[in-house]
Amino acid sequence: MPTLPNSPAERPPRLDARLAAAAAFVRAGHTAADIGCDHGKLSAYLAASGRCPRVLACELREGPLQKARRTCAPWAAKIEFRLGDGLAPLRPGEADDIIIAGMGAETIMQILAAAPWVFAENINLVLVPATKHSLLRRWLAQNGFALAGETLCTAAGRLYAVMDARYTGRAWQPDALWCVCGTLKGQPGAAQYRAGQLAKIQKYRRGLAGGPEADAVDRLIQELEADRWP
Ligand SMILES: C[S@@+](CC[C@H](N)C(=O)[O-])C[C@H]1O[C@@H](n2cnc3c(N)ncnc32)[C@H](O)[C@@H]1O
Repeated sequence: MPTLPNSPAERPPRLDARLAAAAAFVRAGHTAADIGCDHGKLSAYLAASGRCPRVLACELREGPLQKARRTCAPWAAKIEFRLGDGLAPLRPGEADDIIIAGMGAETIMQILAAAPWVFAENINLVLVPATKHSLLRRWLAQNGFALAGETLCTAAGRLYAVMDARYTGRAWQPDALWCVCGTLKGQPGAAQYRAGQLAKIQKYRRGLAGGPEADAVDRLIQELEADRWP
């Protein structure tokens, strides 16, 4: 365990379950980039806990970046602040553990697609989509990433899937059930997660008249209903 500073002012900020799960996927001793760092709590935690010797706190907007500077002030020697879109403020390879938390799946996908250097086996991606988990899982599989780990957690009354993705170069075509449920079976809250996913798909199905897409969605609903998780 790293030694933590004693002064209350220098204690690492408390993380919610979502960011704590993300921090747990960050490899100790690696340089981390916290993309969309906003309040800066994760960046501060990674530096303050000793988990990462260097943290790059990145933000699209100046206001949140200023907030991060304030939160991270006690550990500023280990943290650099960068303004810009997605991974653009980084030089390729500058960080090897990249956390993107609290953005929609489409934004996460756009950020990754715009930085081909992250399609590499030494890069550890820690992703916490705010929405459309299924879309992100499918994109990862189709772009040659494997889910090395996935943690289900509850924060502010919502269930989040925290994903640890590694590039393998082997793109694959996942089935719809895998995209919807990921690798979460057996974790606390998994049955509730699956039920929530089913409810969203049933709602989507009500907006479809018929045809091949409606047939595929019906099959997925049947699969989800048939295999209820404990
Ligand atoms: C909801 S906050 C999440 C903050 C923190 N990562 C968390 O999960 O608690 C999303 C942050 O991402 C930033 N953001 C959105 N799009 C971005 C992009 N393309 N590049 C960098 N930051 C972005 C926003 O400005 C905002 O501060």
